Amino acid sequence: MKKNVITSSILWAFCLVIALPGLAIAQDVGAHADGKTGDSQSGKALYRRFCVGCHGEEGNGLGENAQWLDPRPRDFTTALFRWRSTPTGNLPTDQDLYDTITRGIVGTLMPTWKPLNPQQKVDLLAYIKTFSPRWKTQKPGTPIPIPAETPEVIESVLHGRELYDKMACWKCHGPDGRGDGPSAPTLTDDKNLPIRPYNFHDGTRFRCGETNQDLYKIFMTGLDGTPMPSFADIIQPNDAWDLVHFLRTLQPFVHSKSRELWLQYAKTHPDIKPIGVE
Ligand code: HEC
Ligand code: HEC
Repeated sequence: MKKNVITSSILWAFCLVIALPGLAIAQDVGAHADGKTGDSQSGKALYRRFCVGCHGEEGNGLGENAQWLDPRPRDFTTALFRWRSTPTGNLPTDQDLYDTITRGIVGTLMPTWKPLNPQQKVDLLAYIKTFSPRWKTQKPGTPIPIPAETPEVIESVLHGRELYDKMACWKCHGPDGRGDGPSAPTLTDDKNLPIRPYNFHDGTRFRCGETNQDLYKIFMTGLDGTPMPSFADIIQPNDAWDLVHFLRTLQPFVHSKSRELWLQYAKTHPDIKPIGVE
């Protein structure tokens, strides 16, 4: 009897020694979004079918097709993600990644993945997270609060315009928001590849989202891995809404109350020439 216990303890210890390094390599931390729990093994099969051609076998963004793409596919081994609800420097929440996969990334070759069902998307997340040890050592940040939007009135637009100037958004995005500011030609991303600031004039949707809340989130979280910084430490929430309202005036192809107010205001202020009006 006693001998049996000893033998089985030795056997257990042996199994652990074998199993532990295996676990450490897999880095499986799971994923939870949309009320589902992800399974990285199922995710792996889906990844090999749908994602590998761009994001690569090792998750390093160097899939077979990557060299033809601009922007390049994301490198999952650094776990640097652009579209997050969490402060700059933090991992995104699983829900952030889930939303990105569902929506796709407008204006790039990252498609929308509407045909995948919710469980498959969460399984994919569980697998993507095995590529970087950051998921094991760090927790996703707490999503930044987005307070209720302030009214769209001309005072808000005018103040937002001052902020666009004061915060030097124009240095990259250009005085008219066409993505052609003086710094624009010098900008590179975390892979040292040239990156263009967003062109508000031509764009109708943002890379990840289209609502005023999405817009608010973009400059309060920053886009990690790009020169687009976070302004959370220097812009107060009310001011941030003013900035959102001004940014809307730069978009002639997007209907917004702010732009209407701006066009109205310009009629009695000849010094102002709204963008997109000849
Ligand atoms: C045709 C190529 C292509 C395929 C296939 C593809 N992606 Fe992407 N993916 C991209 C590109 C390009 C980007 C980077 C876009 C950018 O930086 O603006 C990206 C970025 C991402 C990001 C990063 C978002 C962020 O916040 O930084 C995630 C997550 C992602 N892809 C997941 C997936 C998953 C999951 C699949 C498979 C279901 C997949 N992708 C398949 C091209 C692709
Ligand atoms: C140092 C240069 C730089 C400055 C300063 C800057 N941006 Fe950006 N911004 C960028 C770059 C580069 C991108 C494109 C990132 C990408 O494509 O992934 C960008 C993208 C954006 C986007 C679009 C994101 C999306 O999802 O498509 C918005 C909105 C934006 N910036 C707002 C602002 C505002 C508001 C300010 C000032 C408070 C500002 N930016 C200051 C470089 C800058």
